[in-house]
Amino acid sequence: MADASNRLLVTAALPYANGPVHIGHLAGAYLPADLFVRYQRLNGRDVAFICGSDEMGVAILMRALREGRDPQDIVDTYHPMIRDSFADFGMSFDYYGRTTSATHAETSQDFFRTLDAQDAFDLKTNEQLYDPEAEMFLADRFVVGTCPVCGYDEAYGDQCEQCGSSLSPTELIDPRSTLTDATPALRETTHWYLPLDRMQPWLEEWIGTHPEWKNNVLGQVQSWFNEGLKGRAITRDVPWGVPVPADVAARHGLEAEGKVIYVWFDAPIGYISATKEWAAAQGTPQRWKEYWQDDDTELVHFIGKDNIVFHCLMFPAMLHAHGDYVLPEHVPANEFLNIEGQKLSTSRGWAVWLHEYLDDFPDYGADMLRYALAATLPETKDADFSWDGFQNRVNGELADVLGNFVNRTLTFAHRYFDGAVPEARDLSDVDRDVLAQLKQTPATIGAAYEDYRMREAVFETMQLARLGNKYFNDTAPWHTRTDDPQAAANTVHICVQLCASLSILMEPVLPDAAQRLRAMLNLTNVRPSTPGEAPDTALTWEDAATPLLDAGHALGTPSILFEKVEDEQIDAQLDKLQSPDPTPDDMGYEPLKDTITFGDFMDLDLRVGTVTTAEPVPDADKLLRLEVDLGFEERQILAGVAQHMAPDEIVGRTVVVVANLATKEMFGLESQGMVLMAEDRDGNLSLLSTDSENGAVVR
Ligand code: 2FM
Ligand code: ZN
Repeated sequence: MADASNRLLVTAALPYANGPVHIGHLAGAYLPADLFVRYQRLNGRDVAFICGSDEMGVAILMRALREGRDPQDIVDTYHPMIRDSFADFGMSFDYYGRTTSATHAETSQDFFRTLDAQDAFDLKTNEQLYDPEAEMFLADRFVVGTCPVCGYDEAYGDQCEQCGSSLSPTELIDPRSTLTDATPALRETTHWYLPLDRMQPWLEEWIGTHPEWKNNVLGQVQSWFNEGLKGRAITRDVPWGVPVPADVAARHGLEAEGKVIYVWFDAPIGYISATKEWAAAQGTPQRWKEYWQDDDTELVHFIGKDNIVFHCLMFPAMLHAHGDYVLPEHVPANEFLNIEGQKLSTSRGWAVWLHEYLDDFPDYGADMLRYALAATLPETKDADFSWDGFQNRVNGELADVLGNFVNRTLTFAHRYFDGAVPEARDLSDVDRDVLAQLKQTPATIGAAYEDYRMREAVFETMQLARLGNKYFNDTAPWHTRTDDPQAAANTVHICVQLCASLSILMEPVLPDAAQRLRAMLNLTNVRPSTPGEAPDTALTWEDAATPLLDAGHALGTPSILFEKVEDEQIDAQLDKLQSPDPTPDDMGYEPLKDTITFGDFMDLDLRVGTVTTAEPVPDADKLLRLEVDLGFEERQILAGVAQHMAPDEIVGRTVVVVANLATKEMFGLESQGMVLMAEDRDGNLSLLSTDSENGAVVR
């Protein structure tokens, strides 16, 4: 086992506050982190477990623009939702922060300033993709196109989700704006770059000191090295993010206006800001430094595999360049979780949302899901979650193995031993063998947790309950009770001890059931696996190796530890998964826009008109210049229909015009409104006609 004297700082990837949490997130980073932390706390380790919402990134801005909302409004919706569903799932964070906090802006700006003052960045001016329609630079996810590495045609400007390659927007083949679908133009801008290319030798040397890291992590890192690291822009021209400090920009003779720090620069600093906020909330505002700046700290980042490059290369490079911080000791990234054999997809509704699951399984739901997921975590390769598998884990293992063992032990003790722990005497070889196995168990399970083999740890935990059932069956106390009462007493004595040890050893994965079991055993004074102090006398992980309850100890009242999950509950979940409400999008139609008020609609002034002139616009192959008679006046309107209809097909047609649209200049011509058109799923356009007179109001 690792040296247990030092401090442990554990982080779990900050989820984007642009949607709720699903089981893929849980299996990737959160559940393994919580298993590890709870085990470490029970083991007496000083732990700070830090997480929070990632709120300053482009992912948030995109959702806000799509929904016509303010980005702050988006994060204010999802931050509490994520925080609360994590709490209901039993995530035992010491602190759950958010990167919109003032502490975070200050911490990330200071970090940026320090690196800039050390000339750790490069400044480069180059051409970047610019959306002329949205009048915005297209960073990261604002642009999609074909991945130059694997050919996937929906790759984002910062990363290809198919092959994991990190990209820059200008590398995309056939780029298009996700805001307007326009083909972007190139425009000059200046940005700060983290020179990962120059830092590669140091990174290789440092990664070389961690041969113990997981193969999936080292493999990905190595392939980055093989490709050769490139400098990464760590600022953006977008209207949401931590602002580039004005003094830093001024140092280079630049304006900070409109420039923000790239989310993958600020987000991992969010771990530091959240630790500061945690320390302040404890009344020890300087204590965060012990965790981040004292070499006696072990820093561990739990993440999903899509975050490997940022936590194994970029953030360590930042920490190293800064110089005041510890570096991660381990980055145990998990692979992805599929559902019912298919890739999880939030847009197709192929996901199990945590808050919905917890509503559907109000009784012991958190523990059931923790166990089912922990038993199939994607530790070395992608894994599959199936509802059938979930039901088997709950019914066949939690109820039939663990619950049954506890129940038969306690029921027997109440029925035949007055609800007290009987005295053990003259132990048989079988009795001794079980106690010898118990002695090994905390170390066996603990070693698996220490080594980030969570599935194995959970399997070994259930093995103790299996051992208990086998022992109960083999020693048959229902027979020996009359033939050899001391043998029956020994069986019950030892089974009660197994239950007591289990109530500690199962706590990382089944924190709620562990508490309920301890109440049934009337076992108190166990170290909590949640944040907080514990008395020195409190029982720890290692104490679970030996019998914990003395003869004569009065047991509490037994109750059912886990109910079985019914087939109907599973069918309901499968139905939910297989028939997400079909969206227009799924059927190839344009997605529906957000609801508007009646007032919004009434603000539109739609009028009937007749097209009197139609002609091409020089240099604009998509546009036609129309003159439209509205009865009370003539309008010049530029319409993007040149590739769909010929001018003489349009002249003489009645149309519907948006008559109060602000005028817009294009190709040196003023467009005084818009002609309404229907566009079908194949992109064909047709004009809307009516029999009414020119100038008539459309409502
Ligand atoms: O991939 C994600 O969901 C990111 N929001 C993770 C950020 S982890 C950290 F760096 F903050
Ligand atoms: Zn790719």
